[in-house]
Amino acid sequence: MVVDNKATLTYIQVQKEDLAIFRIVPADGPVPEYKAGQFITIGMHVPSENKVIRRAYSIASNPENKKYVELYVRWVRKPLPGRLTTQLFGAKEGDEIVWIKPTGAFVLDDKKSDGTEDDRRIVCLGGGTGLAPFVSLAQSLHASGSKRELVVLHGASYVDELGYKELLVDLENESLDRGKDKWNFRYRATISRPQEWFNRSWSGQVGRVETFLRSKDGEQSPLEKVVGEKITKENTVFFICGWQGTIDGCMDYLGPKGFVTERNKRPDKSFEIKYESYG
Ligand SMILES: Cc1cc2nc3c(=O)[nH]c(=O)nc-3n(C[C@H](O)[C@H](O)[C@H](O)COP(=O)(O)OP(=O)(O)OC[C@H]3O[C@@H](n4cnc5c(N)ncnc54)[C@H](O)[C@@H]3O)c2cc1C
Ligand SMILES: NC(=O)c1ccc[n+]([C@@H]2O[C@H](COP(=O)([O-])OP(=O)(O)OC[C@H]3O[C@@H](n4cnc5c(N)ncnc54)[C@H](OP(=O)(O)O)[C@@H]3O)[C@@H](O)[C@H]2O)c1
Repeated sequence: MVVDNKATLTYIQVQKEDLAIFRIVPADGPVPEYKAGQFITIGMHVPSENKVIRRAYSIASNPENKKYVELYVRWVRKPLPGRLTTQLFGAKEGDEIVWIKPTGAFVLDDKKSDGTEDDRRIVCLGGGTGLAPFVSLAQSLHASGSKRELVVLHGASYVDELGYKELLVDLENESLDRGKDKWNFRYRATISRPQEWFNRSWSGQVGRVETFLRSKDGEQSPLEKVVGEKITKENTVFFICGWQGTIDGCMDYLGPKGFVTERNKRPDKSFEIKYESYG
């Protein structure tokens, strides 16, 4: 039997009509333990069905933050209004929801399969709200004083869908100020519909997030230009979250270079890619 806990929606920040940040605070007891990259299941009563509908959401806040659990959610409206998200976007601060404790394997390993410390660079590619687990990871590595290099790459259709841009730019600026030996962080974004009038102000990278991995005519890829060296499976691990097309698009570049996913690991159990797809 599912054991639901109660929580209060304490904060709603609408980024645009169908994209928002929600914070929940457990009604009884502390914020649950979890690891960066995990998801929580939340539930709301859907009157038309007269039942509680539950859905998984990646946690965007970091485990060291004991004040609330933050979620970055798209209101699904096509082809039909999504059941939970329609309820959530109709809710107001102070409303009650239910939740089931965080879980998930989309987490950082600090050891390689041979048991040695893994100090390879971490590159995270997030499509849309697939950025959420990486906002958690960046804040968590920052909070714990990690020296491991972290690159967060975000792809969105529109400039006003670059959620968490300010937080991530601030984390990069801190890295530039303090030095890579103290906090080693880079953030880059790309816009996949640059031709649309709404995106006319954008002068950065264009294309879907996987274009950061593309190298033309033997040139360095945009990612390699950011990190300043060739990306190999000896120096980099990847985390990818987004549509299945995003995972496939990244694998088109990484597969031929010998990278393998955790789900398809080698006989010695080694791998360099973890992903979570929307299906
Ligand atoms: C591990 C994990 C983490 C996730 N993290 C996030 C996150 O951080 N942020 C986020 O926004 N989402 C996240 N999701 C997705 C989330 O769990 C939900 O799937 C999503 O919010 C849609 O839920 P819903 O109840 O609103 O839609 P649903 O009611 O489940 O509908 C889903 C889709 O089916 C369509 N549909 C429904 N009924 C019909 C029908 N009769 N005929 C045709 N089509 C129909 C809807 O239009 C919609 O496109 C995550 C999912 C997983 C598995
Ligand atoms: N962990 C999870 O499983 C998880 C996490 C977060 C969200 N979700 C769910 O994912 C759904 C949509 O997410 P979103 O609204 O955040 O994404 P989105 O804004 O629609 O798209 C984000 C980026 O992905 C690209 N994209 C869209 N479809 C693609 C495809 N088939 N293949 C490759 N790239 C594609 C878009 O490019 P274009 O501009 O070219 O379309 C855009 O650059 C929602 O239903 C959400 O609930 C699941």
